Amino acid sequence: MRMSRRHAISLFGLTAAVPAMARAAAHTGAVAFKHGVASGDPLADRVILWTRITPDAPDADSIAYSWKLIPMDRRAGGAKSGSGVTDASRDHTVKVDVAGLDPERSYTFEFTANGVTSPMGRTRTLPTGSVKDVVLAVATCSLYSGGYFNAYEAIAKLERVDAVLHLGDYIYEYAPEGYGYETGKLLNRQPEPAHDCITLADYRTRHACHKSDGQLQAAHARAPWIVVWDDHETANDSYVGGAQHHNPVTDGDWNARKAAAIKAYYEWMPIREPADHGFAINRAFHFGDVASLFMVETRLTARDQQVTYDRDLKVGPDGKPDVAGFKARLNDPKRKMMGAAQEAWLGAGLKASVKAGRPWQILGNEVIMARVNAPGLRGAMGDESVEKLLADLPAAARKRVDGTERIAALELPYGPDMWDGYPADRQRLYSLIKAARANVVVVSGDSHAFWANELYDAPVGGTRVAVEFGSAGITSPGPWGDLKGFPVGDILAKTNREVIDSNQDEKGFVLLTLTKTQVRGEWVTVSTVMDKTYTTKSLKTFTADHGARGIGPLKRV
Ligand SMILES: [Fe+2]
Repeated sequence: MRMSRRHAISLFGLTAAVPAMARAAAHTGAVAFKHGVASGDPLADRVILWTRITPDAPDADSIAYSWKLIPMDRRAGGAKSGSGVTDASRDHTVKVDVAGLDPERSYTFEFTANGVTSPMGRTRTLPTGSVKDVVLAVATCSLYSGGYFNAYEAIAKLERVDAVLHLGDYIYEYAPEGYGYETGKLLNRQPEPAHDCITLADYRTRHACHKSDGQLQAAHARAPWIVVWDDHETANDSYVGGAQHHNPVTDGDWNARKAAAIKAYYEWMPIREPADHGFAINRAFHFGDVASLFMVETRLTARDQQVTYDRDLKVGPDGKPDVAGFKARLNDPKRKMMGAAQEAWLGAGLKASVKAGRPWQILGNEVIMARVNAPGLRGAMGDESVEKLLADLPAAARKRVDGTERIAALELPYGPDMWDGYPADRQRLYSLIKAARANVVVVSGDSHAFWANELYDAPVGGTRVAVEFGSAGITSPGPWGDLKGFPVGDILAKTNREVIDSNQDEKGFVLLTLTKTQVRGEWVTVSTVMDKTYTTKSLKTFTADHGARGIGPLKRV
């Protein structure tokens, strides 16, 4: 390929000029685009374009490429093109931040390298000024071995979607014989590499494995994605200083693993990276005069270690669980989820968005924010019904029921890894929302369940500060799969004030539509993840109205 005297190299997601000497090592052998194309982090005037070039020699050095982006409408002008070089230092991934675009405009884009052209992608810039509505698909939790990515394909087939929000667990770090093993074996769909991801090479291979999936490629090619990681992009239940699924004795230094995981993430995901390439990926997007979206980071910048029932719920001198001691640890105001810098950024952003006249502020967030106590199954269903269901289940099911019952009886949270594990930080966040007089819609991933929640600033009474839509996984199994027949979602809704409705079994995504006066969250499910033939269904839809004095209640429609 002919190159200009000074050409561009993609470095940490930015395109920078480098001397022409880099041309000397350019790979001229065969290449392929095996991982599709993607776009992300759209603004009114720019968007990230992404692809990965697979050379015929894995250790090939630099590969020159060109890209072009063409408006889909008939208005003249606005096409862009450019060229660059990628190399093994970034796993031959390509990321271009294309600037100078028009707002609210759809484009197609593609890449070419060594005479080979990539699949074509579609993307779209954000609107400015007056907008009728905004449509977002909210996705999370795609365990490769958990089944086929039918829900990603369903997103690709949406007639209208302005952007896809991915709230994390895009990959899982587990070995194939770990989480999801039985389904993976049944479908012969096991992730690479064939062990836990620890090193940079491992995480790169796992990302490549996911992006070799045609259904996921289709979703990436459909619309720009706006992403955050959750825990499994590094390791289960991660926090600043470690993770539940990280043993320094066998897995080595946590900081080295975290850095490797995040380097691979930046290489393989269409995200605009923070200037210091650190972990603070909190960032904002504005959709005309309808909504601002704030993507928050709650894992690797500030999060303190989770409390756990096994470690922190001790037995008191009277032989009973020391609930007061546990709650004292849980409620410690020093325990952080977002940290002071992010709180200050969010507080200022919420205020600015409201001041600019946008009716909605969306929080793109990883874990469930509502107060949710563990479900008391026996209390809600009666012993007889519980025993009837347990009779047909393996012995482990009884242990699960009894363990849940024990926590429920103490009125303790369902998920200490969720916001319930950081109540002081949650109160600080609620204060920011109230100070800004914002109408906040929280969207959450992580839990493998659908939720429609109302969030209050006090356990009893108080003010409704936000509504929350939690999205089920694309494939990741529901948390109560071992308790077949137990109506856990219904029980959670019946026994928790903030849970208006929940489904703990289905797979799919949330389709979020915002007009100036109303937010609408639709639970879209796929009929199966065990076969590529499937149907989609609008399971339930909820709305809330914008209010000058705060967001209205959730209504089932
Ligand atoms: Fe997950």
